[in-house]
Amino acid sequence: MGEVVQQKQLTSEKADRFTESVIREMTRQAMLYGAVNLAQGFPDFAAPEEVKRAAQQAIAADINQYAITWGAKKLREAIAREMRRWQGLAVDPETDITVCCGSTEAMISAMLAVTNPGDEVVIFEPFYENYGPDAILSGARSRFVKLHPPSDGDGEWVFDERELRAAFNRNTKAIILNTPNNPTGKVFTRAELEFIRDLCVEWNVLALTDEIYEHILYDGTKHISIAALDGMRDRTVTINGMSKTYSVTGWRVGWAVAAPAITSAIRKVHDFLTVGAAAPLQEAGAVALSLPESYYQKLAADYRERREILLAGLRAAGFRCFVPRGAYYIMTDISAFLPMFSPAAPAAGTDDVRFTQYLVKEVGVAVVPGSSFYNDPRDGAQQVRFAFCKQLPTLQEAARRLQRLRPS
Ligand SMILES: Cc1ncc(COP(=O)(O)O)c(C=O)c1O
Repeated sequence: MGEVVQQKQLTSEKADRFTESVIREMTRQAMLYGAVNLAQGFPDFAAPEEVKRAAQQAIAADINQYAITWGAKKLREAIAREMRRWQGLAVDPETDITVCCGSTEAMISAMLAVTNPGDEVVIFEPFYENYGPDAILSGARSRFVKLHPPSDGDGEWVFDERELRAAFNRNTKAIILNTPNNPTGKVFTRAELEFIRDLCVEWNVLALTDEIYEHILYDGTKHISIAALDGMRDRTVTINGMSKTYSVTGWRVGWAVAAPAITSAIRKVHDFLTVGAAAPLQEAGAVALSLPESYYQKLAADYRERREILLAGLRAAGFRCFVPRGAYYIMTDISAFLPMFSPAAPAAGTDDVRFTQYLVKEVGVAVVPGSSFYNDPRDGAQQVRFAFCKQLPTLQEAARRLQRLRPS
């Protein structure tokens, strides 16, 4: 009897099916080895003064207790105003918005609210690593569809329409979109989104769209929310947050916007997962979302400068770079370096991980191995991702260190 009880598995099958986040592990390693951290996507510069001040004032004004579980009224109203200004979307702050602990919680709450065990979720890959565990935790089955890299680094990552169509079937419940995209920097075009829209309508499928980099755009690209396309308003959950736009990744304020029936389901899940996001920081969120248009223009211009510095440094060190059109990451092809790391098996699945280990320990730069963005690790074995949400001296120091890689 006692023996049978001893054999009981004390961790869940779900938890056993995924690993710790590789991205966050790389941050721990960066600290351990004193490396420049270009792994995790958090800024190393200050948040806007008026946003910080608003948070301080909210604490001074004793906004210390639970906010309404689905979000402080002022913040929901500011989100609705901003979505109308930016994408022309009509959103009711009373029925359509759930404020969560970051967009991370918004995505898992949405997944738990809309999927049943056995439902399929279409995910473009390479993908932001949270989506895999999100699908596992919610009992959904992932169907991966490739974003194919451009043959010329300055081209665009694209999906094959036939491959995407083939991923939809009667069990498909949702497609996860991320535009601007992490890790590729792809910004989905209107034509691509319309193609996805047509499939969603044909198969009665929801779009869960992570638009957290919506204001970080380059080269004249435009951000389009799929919810704004005809036929998508009621079948889209738009996920966003303060982390990237206002450089406050540690504040953990995000939101999910959807039609009332879907919102009620998300609100229930969210309430029992976390009750709510930090109340004083939600007040500051309302101030952040009221910043003038010029704030967003400067944000994009500053990131463009950082992109140029890192691109130049990486190219000088011998990396082949995929130029991002949005977000703040550069995916690179490392095949030129691989012979010196694993001459016997240049295509082995662990090459990117071995290269990343070398970079963090010997060169002093932390990055993310490409395999962590793919379902089959071999697909990312020739790629690593650099983040450039850093001060110019940080990027310059990383570029200086990377020159050591240059074949002499
Ligand atoms: C695509 C994407 N979504 C979500 C997040 C996390 O956002 P949040 O801080 O709002 O949870 C990140 C962070 O890197 C991201 O890259």
